[in-house]
Amino acid sequence: MKLQIVIGSTREGRKSLQFSKWIESSARDLEDVEVEMVDLVDFDLPLFNEAVSPRYNPDRKVEGDVKKFLDKLAEADGYVFVTPEYNHSLSGVLKNALDYTAYELNRKPAAVATHGSVGGARAAEHLKMILSECQAVIVPINLHFNHFIAGNIDEEGNLIKELKELQYGPHTTVNTMLNDLVWYAKALKAAK
Ligand SMILES: Cc1cc2nc3c(=O)[nH]c(=O)nc-3n(C[C@H](O)[C@H](O)[C@H](O)COP(=O)(O)O)c2cc1C
Repeated sequence: MKLQIVIGSTREGRKSLQFSKWIESSARDLEDVEVEMVDLVDFDLPLFNEAVSPRYNPDRKVEGDVKKFLDKLAEADGYVFVTPEYNHSLSGVLKNALDYTAYELNRKPAAVATHGSVGGARAAEHLKMILSECQAVIVPINLHFNHFIAGNIDEEGNLIKELKELQYGPHTTVNTMLNDLVWYAKALKAAK
C-alpha cells in the first residue's frame, strides 16, 4: 500500500518540511506501507486557469508539471495533507494544487495535519471540506501540532524528548492518525 505525505508550503524556510519529515518518520514502522513525500516545491503549478472544471471536462488534456503532479497523486492509496495555517485557512499553494485534481483522490482516505498558533485548527476545517469535495474520504483524526515547530521538531524531523514523554502528546496523535489512515485505505481498497 502506498501513502503519500503532501507538503503544502513552498516558501523559503518553511516549517512544514520538518513537520512532514516527522510524520514520515512516524509512518516508517507501519507494516506493508510505502511512504512517499510529495513536495509541491517539485512541481511548477501555475495558478489554476483551465476553462472547464476538471471533473466536467471529458476532453481534458494535462501536460508538463500538472500531469506529473496528477499522475503522482493517482499512484497513492491514501494521503496525509500537511498545511500551515495562513490567514485562518490552508495555504494558497495547496488549495491551488487541489483545484487541479479531477478523480485522483476518489474514494481514497485523506488525513489532515496542520500547524499554527491554534494547531492550524481553522486551516484543518477548511482543508477537510475541500478534500471532501475532491471526493476523498476524510480520516476523522486530525493532527493539530499546537507547539511551535521551531524548537520542538528539528530539521531532520525529530520530535524533542519532552514532547515524546507526554502521555497524550503529538506522537500518540500522529500514530493514531496514521493507523486510522491505513485502516481506511485497506477498507476502501478492498471495497473497490
Ligand atoms: C501569510 C501568513 C499568514 C499566516 N496566518 C496565520 C494564521 O492565520 N494563524 C496562525 O496560526 N498562523 C498564521 N501564520 C503563521 C504560520 O502558521 C507559521 O508561520 C507557519 O510556520 C507557516 O508554515 P510554513 O513555515 O511551513 O510556511 C501565518 C503566516 C503567514 C506567512
